[in-house]
Amino acid sequence: MLEQAGRKKRVLVIIFCQADFPCMEWHESGVDGIAVMKKKIGFAAAIALVALAILSTRYYEVGLPLWHFLGGGKGPDPAALHLRGEFVESNLGAAEGPEGSLTVRMIAQQYVFVPQCIIVPAGVPVRFRITSADAVHMLSFLGTDYGLKAVPGTVTEANFTFSKPGEFKIPCHEFCGAGHYAMRGQLDVVPQDQFSSLRPGERRTCEPR
Ligand code: CUA
Repeated sequence: MLEQAGRKKRVLVIIFCQADFPCMEWHESGVDGIAVMKKKIGFAAAIALVALAILSTRYYEVGLPLWHFLGGGKGPDPAALHLRGEFVESNLGAAEGPEGSLTVRMIAQQYVFVPQCIIVPAGVPVRFRITSADAVHMLSFLGTDYGLKAVPGTVTEANFTFSKPGEFKIPCHEFCGAGHYAMRGQLDVVPQDQFSSLRPGERRTCEPR
C-alpha cells in the first residue's frame, strides 16, 4: 500500500484554464492524483460538449459566415443580401423576364418575408427564388400544396402555377425563433389581365406604399 502511494506518474492533462480556452498541465499523480485528474477530464469533456451544442445551434451565425469567408459557399452571402447580388431590395418581388416569364425573388428573415406581400397573375407559371438572411424558414402557401424552404447561403427555386385568383397567407412553417408564430407574408393571385394592367412598379409587390 505504501509502495503504491509512493509510485508517482507524470501525466499530461488538458484542462480548461478559462471558460473555453484549453491548456495543458503536467501532473504528478499518485492514486489520489489520478482520481482528481479523472474529474478534471470529465469536467473538460462536459464543457466541450456544451460548447459544441452552442456552436451547432449558432451555425448560421458563426459557421456560415466563416464558411463564406473561406470561400466555401457558392450561394448568396446571408450577411450581404442587401448589398450585392440578385437579392438587393430593388430586385425583390415579381419581375418579368424575357418572353414574359415571371420570377419572384424573396428574402426570409427573422421574422418577416421581404417583400411581405407579393402579387402574381393566375394560370401562369411563376418561378420563385428565395433565400434566407439568418435561420432556416419554411414558406407554405396556405390552401395549396406549395411550399418553399429558405436556407441561408442557398437559393431555393421552384415553379408554381396558381390556377385561380385569391389571397393566400404565407405562414412560416419551420421554427425559427421567438417570433416564428407571427411570421407570415401574403400572396395575391389576380386575373392575368388585371396583372398586365398594373404599372411595372405595382407588379413587384402588393404592399401598400
Ligand atoms: Cu420563420 Cu419560422
